[in-house]
Amino acid sequence: MNGSLSANSQLLLSLRTGLVEPACQIAVCIPAVYAYQGQTLLSNCPMALGAQDISAYDNGAYTGEISGSMLKEFGVRYAIVGHSERRQYHGESDETVAAKAKRALSYDITPIVCVGETLAEREAGQTGDVVSRQLAVVIAALGEDISKIVLAYEPVWAIGTGKTATPMQAQQVHAMLRSQLKAASDSADSIQILYGGSMNAVTAGELLRQPDIDGGLVGGASLKLLDFLAIIAACA
Ligand code: PGA
Repeated sequence: MNGSLSANSQLLLSLRTGLVEPACQIAVCIPAVYAYQGQTLLSNCPMALGAQDISAYDNGAYTGEISGSMLKEFGVRYAIVGHSERRQYHGESDETVAAKAKRALSYDITPIVCVGETLAEREAGQTGDVVSRQLAVVIAALGEDISKIVLAYEPVWAIGTGKTATPMQAQQVHAMLRSQLKAASDSADSIQILYGGSMNAVTAGELLRQPDIDGGLVGGASLKLLDFLAIIAACA
C-alpha cells in the first residue's frame, strides 16, 4: 500500500528511462486503484503491469473486491496472491489463495503465488511442512495448470525486516518446492520460483545465482529507483 499519483509517475518514468535492454522479465505490481495510471505509463515498455491481489470471485455482489475481468481491462498480466500480509491481516486461507490463483488463470492473468513460514514455524523446524502444505492446496486446485503460475518463496520473518534469508536457506526451500512441483507437473523446470524478503541491491546477486532461484519478489527496494535497477541488473 505504497504510492501516489505523483510518486508513481516519478518512479515508473525514471524506471523506463533507466532500463536498457533488461536481461530478465519485469512486472510492477501496483495498488489496483492506480491500474489506469500504470497501464498508461507502462505502455510499450519491457515492464508488465501486475496487481497486488485479485478477487476469488467473478463480478457481482462482492463489495470492495476487484475482479480479474476488471484488472484485465487495464492490461494487468500478473496478480500476487497469498502474500503473507493478505494471509495475516485479511484471514486468507490456503483454500482462498488457491481459489484466487485459479480465478486469475481463468482471465489469463498469471498468479504469483506466495508461500512462506513465520519465524516461530522456522524455529520449530516446520518450514518444509508449512510451505509444502501451502503449495499442495494450490496444486490440488489447479492440476496441470500449476505449470502456468509463478511461485514466490517469502519467509515471513524476512519481509520488510531487513533480514534476508541466506542464499543457502533460500535455495534449500526452493529446491524442495521444485521437487514438489516436479511430482505434480512435467513442466516443473520451467516454473519460475522467486525469492522475496528484504532482497536488495547487495543481496540480490548471490541469491539469484542459486540454481532454483529464478527471480525476486521485491518490496521495499523496488520503491527506490537505483536499488531496483541494481537488482534488475543483477538478474543478468
Ligand atoms: P520486502 O518486501 O522486499 O520489503 O521485504 C517483500 C514483499 O513484501 O513481498
